[in-house]
Amino acid sequence: MGKKFGYSIRRLDDCQNIADFRELAKRRLPYPVFHYIDGAADDEITKDRNTAAFEDVDLVPDVLVGADKLDPSITIMGRKSALPLMLSPTALQRLFHWQGERAVAATAEKFGLWFGISSLSSVSIEEIGAKYAGPKMLQYYYHKDRGLNAALVERAKAANFDAITLTVDTIVSGNRERCKRTGFQTPPRITPASFLSYATHPAWALNFLFREKFDLPNLSTHVAAGSNASISIQDYFNTMLDPSMDWKAAEWLRDEWGGKFCLKGVMSVGDAKRAADMGCDAIMVSNHGGRQLDGGRAPFDQLEEIVQAVGDRIEVICDGGVRRGSHVLKALATGAKAASGGRLYLYALAAAGQAGVERAIGLLDAEIRRDMQLMGVSRLDQLTPDHLRRR
Ligand code: FNR
Ligand code: LAC
Repeated sequence: MGKKFGYSIRRLDDCQNIADFRELAKRRLPYPVFHYIDGAADDEITKDRNTAAFEDVDLVPDVLVGADKLDPSITIMGRKSALPLMLSPTALQRLFHWQGERAVAATAEKFGLWFGISSLSSVSIEEIGAKYAGPKMLQYYYHKDRGLNAALVERAKAANFDAITLTVDTIVSGNRERCKRTGFQTPPRITPASFLSYATHPAWALNFLFREKFDLPNLSTHVAAGSNASISIQDYFNTMLDPSMDWKAAEWLRDEWGGKFCLKGVMSVGDAKRAADMGCDAIMVSNHGGRQLDGGRAPFDQLEEIVQAVGDRIEVICDGGVRRGSHVLKALATGAKAASGGRLYLYALAAAGQAGVERAIGLLDAEIRRDMQLMGVSRLDQLTPDHLRRR
């Protein structure tokens, strides 16, 4: 955005939207880390389409309805959220900023939002459970190591997580060419090619070297890879995750856990029906931010048919591509219960830690409220497909 209008983004105060945070993150991060966040699979067509899909549908407002008492809250998986926006689980956050998951959890709590931590989070399930009372999910990767799988469930129970979300779009890694080019690994390894980038971002490098040692505490009890042994995400997925994962595995997890259960990465009507049949509480219609199957359909494009098929039986969350409050309202008018996103807060985390995430979510909060008023609705259940027209 900044570039488009000829101004440059140098400080947090300059950031007026998510694209601005992206620019600041690019400036502040060593390039292997930036491209890990920003990048996606193959030609990144799906990643771009995830956002572009929202632009193919226009909002049609109602006027003269007296929208002065706003209520943008929803209830999802049994817990209230102050906005119809969830912070999707993302891995390795202490590599993006030393405050990592703590900054994201604190912001979610401040704004009253659902958030998720990844199986590959860099702060432990126990710490997140003990410190943050707000609604939270553990994103679950189904590993070949059955002991690790069982341990993750027990830890989520003991830490009082509100939901487990099983990611179903990642039994092998997508082809992330940017990561192959940069050699990105976790923990980062400084290679001859990337040395200059780390050296020219001393704030990031000093924080990484001298603050709390990097670890993936949910996994390091069982596997060294990712914590004590550097590995690319691609190799981690391809060696550790179980590609034989099937509906039986999902049922096993649902039964072991016994609490609110969500599948993340459902894209077809058939799978959405099956998720509803097996008693899932929610699905995230998602393609992992375009990081897995390139050429896959955008969640927003696929939302309508999924909502029509299962919207009365299961809570449908539209995950990916969201960069504006108006995108959230378009998803809700189509019938989603909530919208969710990763990069919308990750760029801000990388740019400025908790202050950044708070500013990004504050901007989206204001956009959602303002756009509700401009749409002439005071409650989110007043948004209907009548408020949308496809071009
Ligand atoms: C992710 N995502 C992700 N998903 C998941 O199930 N487990 C994970 O560990 C991660 N990690 C992760 C890291 C990074 C850097 C990104 C950008 C994304 C996917 C995430 O939950 C969500 O589906 C996407 O971010 C949605 O797309 P947008 O909002 O980033 O466009
Ligand atoms: C990713 C992971 C970790 O998308 O899910 O990089």
